[in-house]
Amino acid sequence: MAVTINTLREYKQNGEAFSALTSYDATFAQIVSEAGVDVILIGDSLGMVLQGNDSTLPVTMDQMVYHTSCVAKGNRGSLIMADMPFMSYGTVEAALENAAELMRAGAHMVKLEGTDWMKDTISALSERGVPVCAHLGLTPQFVNKFGGYKVQGRDEKAAEMMIEHACELEEAGADIILLECVPAPLAARITQAVKAPVIGIGAGSDTDGQVLVVHDMLGLTPGRKPRFVKNFLAETDSVQEALAAYVQQVRDRTFPSEEHTFKA
Ligand code: KIV
Ligand code: NA
Repeated sequence: MAVTINTLREYKQNGEAFSALTSYDATFAQIVSEAGVDVILIGDSLGMVLQGNDSTLPVTMDQMVYHTSCVAKGNRGSLIMADMPFMSYGTVEAALENAAELMRAGAHMVKLEGTDWMKDTISALSERGVPVCAHLGLTPQFVNKFGGYKVQGRDEKAAEMMIEHACELEEAGADIILLECVPAPLAARITQAVKAPVIGIGAGSDTDGQVLVVHDMLGLTPGRKPRFVKNFLAETDSVQEALAAYVQQVRDRTFPSEEHTFKA
């Protein structure tokens, strides 16, 4: 049966951890989906992974639509989430128009990076039939404001602010919260504070779901790897087995372990 936002809500209610991975093309979408990964994300990380840029900022709407349509063709029943690229949701009007394009290309929901300023945008989308994932914490489209890729929510004031933002965005209509690079105890507090399923990357093992960039978890990404990345291909013999191992280790919460987690 195809995964929907209801499936993810049931996982949360039952305390079952679920998995998500990025894909940008039909082949990956199919094998990721067939491995039992619940959510496929067409991440704007494709700006780095596929295009070789040093940030996600150059990614355009046309490119996101193209990759979303490729993924939709390969998908075999996973929930398809598409990133809205930098400045494509700068106004409510732009967000509606651009989200519609991604939904027409085959997305089941969209993901936006930001905090309380997104409330009006999220309710406008949600009221018109577009489920939204609100991405908080290290939001890569803000790299120039953050002055680098840094763990977010480290002091108590910032932590409380993030909890408040998660609650406000859920209230506005967000169906999923995604937390990137936040200390595990904060991610656990946010997961408890909202009814919406929470997906984490570099956010410890207490979130409802986990996500990674597929090239990272197959050990393909060159250079220094972030703390939260694990190479699942290193302990298996094929891409398919590596994907299955990821699904299993997320499900039994053996991934992420301490070594992949920011404690504070
Ligand atoms: O673009 C992306 O791949 C993402 C995930 C890392 C969460 O947003
Ligand atoms: Na992204």
